[in-house]
Amino acid sequence: MCGIVGYIGRQEAAPVVLEGLTRLEHRGYDSAGVAVLGNRGIRVAKQAGRVRDLGDALPKRFAGATGIGHTRWATHGPATDANAHPHTDEAGRVAVVHNGIIDNSAALRAELADAGTALASDTDTEVLAHLVARSDADTLEGKVRDALGAVVGTYGLAVLHADFPDRIVVARNGSPLVVGVGDKEMYVASDLAAIVRHTTTVAVLDDGEMATVTAAGFSTMRHSDLVATGKTAAEVDVDASAYEAGEHESFMRKEILEQPTTAQAVLRGRLDERFGTAHLGGLDMDARQLRAVRRVKILGCGSAYYVGQMGAALIEELARIPADAEAASEFRYRDPVIEPDTLYVAVSQSGETIDTLLAVQEVRRKGGRCVGLVNVVGSAIARECDGGIYLHAGPEVAVASTKALTNMFLAFALLALQLGRVRDLSIADGKRLVAGLERLPGQIEEVLAGEAELVEVAKDLAEARSLFFIGRVRGFPVAREGAQKFKEISYRHAEAYQTSELKHGPLALIDPEVPTVALVPHDELAERNVGALHEIEARKGPLVVITHEGVDLGEVNARRIVVPRNEPELDPILLNVPLQLLAYHAAQHLGHDIDKPRNLAKSVTVE
Ligand code: AGP
Repeated sequence: MCGIVGYIGRQEAAPVVLEGLTRLEHRGYDSAGVAVLGNRGIRVAKQAGRVRDLGDALPKRFAGATGIGHTRWATHGPATDANAHPHTDEAGRVAVVHNGIIDNSAALRAELADAGTALASDTDTEVLAHLVARSDADTLEGKVRDALGAVVGTYGLAVLHADFPDRIVVARNGSPLVVGVGDKEMYVASDLAAIVRHTTTVAVLDDGEMATVTAAGFSTMRHSDLVATGKTAAEVDVDASAYEAGEHESFMRKEILEQPTTAQAVLRGRLDERFGTAHLGGLDMDARQLRAVRRVKILGCGSAYYVGQMGAALIEELARIPADAEAASEFRYRDPVIEPDTLYVAVSQSGETIDTLLAVQEVRRKGGRCVGLVNVVGSAIARECDGGIYLHAGPEVAVASTKALTNMFLAFALLALQLGRVRDLSIADGKRLVAGLERLPGQIEEVLAGEAELVEVAKDLAEARSLFFIGRVRGFPVAREGAQKFKEISYRHAEAYQTSELKHGPLALIDPEVPTVALVPHDELAERNVGALHEIEARKGPLVVITHEGVDLGEVNARRIVVPRNEPELDPILLNVPLQLLAYHAAQHLGHDIDKPRNLAKSVTVE
């Protein structure tokens, strides 16, 4: 979704800002813009389309050592040049870039129009520029405070003002913002990815905080009353190369291949071989509290929701606690009953997904305990939760989630193990699962080593107008995730179904043009699954079967992809890896922009 970059220092700002914006492209956007503040005041260039095109179209004289830029993902008004950020006041002396949504913008726009202000865009953000310009405070911080006092909504924003050429003022309420410290130069960004090549010394703003950023440093304050908050910058432990695709043709491929290593990272130091359990200090719950949990409710969106369903199955199986997952985007709208002995689990790669964040807030507002399975350290969801398990997958850049999803599954396995071992899961079973988890990274590597065999299968699937992904019980959420990944990047219609439900309706759609990707693990349902394959074959439906050695597919005519077996409870994640590769190679065959699929954003920060 939208991205913000700002620079103030010794260099020309525009190239630095534009380069930062390219680092945020993966988040999804449809227009881009930049404003610089130089001797001739504020100049703005913005247009619908790519950052690269904006750079090419930049006027020759676009000088200034202070600048802010933005990538916009349209919400209020279509993706046009006029709606792109930065937005300015009528005199062009104030420029604002903004992530988030101003909920009362319609009323504010009407008020401004009644007062004779000519509005130049359809956006909610524009009101901020006019409100800052209208304030009679004598500092820029005071003007921004006054403007923010009038708005209701979420924001991460950066403001330039021609009367205050030595500074950028930034503020946060619900949309992330970091300030980066350089040598006589400073950066601001909505995502560390934009500035990590320049600095890893950063301060993360909290909601309600504002910062004055000059070339010499920064100071923070509450934006309601400008009382200093005294935040300092700290070194963050990130490797800038983690934000580069390197020799890989895409981030998605890089992230798929990283999984054996990143899977180790989420398990590291958390497995207890001796007692067959897991140690999850971040949950901040002792054995007595864990034992008191009577139900688990998992909340996430998209792939995080599907892996939540895998997690619920793990928790029910290992801990024998009723567990289910629900789309966080729906949760709060049904005024959910929050039970004191339910453990709520929010799961999110970005830690920014607004629907998940609001679901967490709903739980906590009603007194529930919510823990987070989150990848981005210090993100809004991680901070909102009572405790949690960090995923340690490293930065995930591709819109289609792969390595983070695998680590979500592993984190659920750790949670299920710990919940199980404070209950009735035997030490023998605990040890069996610990050993299984230890084998998993190597087995993921084995699946990845078979990539070449999947390429032709993926190409054929890419040619289909519509596909089914089917699985049963543990396998059904895997089928859902497989279909999700396939449609996200190949733009083919892919639908997931329980194998058992096919004959209750969708079998009518099976024909030689509609392939089915079926999950048939070596478990107690294998025979029944094979029965369903016969039904598909009888309708001449092409079949791709993801299975284990030893599963007898009989006479079924199918392309067979064999993955290694682990413990049955842990098998789902190994069955999922070939589905990532099938989606990837199908999209590549179709020539799609794999890391930036159309219409999608990496972090969905608006409702
Ligand atoms: C995954 O491939 C998708 N891009 C999407 O469904 C994603 O999982 C969802 O938007 C949730 O994101 P989060 O994990 O950052 O909360």
